[in-house]
Amino acid sequence: MLDDEGLANKRGWMAMAKTLHRDAERVTPERFQGIMSRFPAGVTVVTAYGEGGEPRGLTVSAFCSVSLSPPLVLVCVDRDSETLPAILSSGGYTVNFLAADHADLALRFASKGPDKFEGLEYGAPAGCPEAGPVLEGCSSAYVACRLWREVEAGDHLVLVGLVREGASAGDGVTPLVYGERRFAGWRQVREVAS
Ligand SMILES: Cc1cc2nc3c(=O)[nH]c(=O)nc-3n(C[C@H](O)[C@H](O)[C@H](O)COP(=O)(O)O)c2cc1C
Repeated sequence: MLDDEGLANKRGWMAMAKTLHRDAERVTPERFQGIMSRFPAGVTVVTAYGEGGEPRGLTVSAFCSVSLSPPLVLVCVDRDSETLPAILSSGGYTVNFLAADHADLALRFASKGPDKFEGLEYGAPAGCPEAGPVLEGCSSAYVACRLWREVEAGDHLVLVGLVREGASAGDGVTPLVYGERRFAGWRQVREVAS
């Protein structure tokens, strides 16, 4: 049962949802980004080793699971990404799910340049030689993948990966989320149902 405040919130929300479509306009890139900012997502660092063995990586929120059997995930990577050639040449990638106290790394890996791994501890995942560096001490979980399919999708590539190795940190490590152009810790998000 909702209390009076809950009921008022629900009525306000329903009225707003009903009128949303009246504001619909042509979806410019800015409008598209504004719309998508209302869909919060986890924050990952997708990594791969380049041809010379150098670690590369970028921040990615366009990540999701695809299939349970076989275990597949996907990431969407900009064609202009400097990490992309490393993913394609090595034939795999690792998805590091950032923990809430590592928004700094989300910003670092959203920049350009070859020195993004400076001062970080990382290692190659033994169970998947094609995949990229696993970041130590800053993730709530990771999956190491062999590239399974790649699909051209506008200015991005959809990279489907077969998960060969993965691990999850204990409940004490809160995932980082990004929405409305801000970072938050998952446990700061107010629970509305379970
Ligand atoms: C929160 C956040 C999420 C991002 N998600 C993506 C994404 O899903 N795909 C993508 O290609 N770039 C994404 N980016 C942008 C890249 O991280 C950024 O362009 C980066 O500089 C690319 O680095 P690279 O060229 O070294 O690969 C995101 C950036 C931020 C801050």
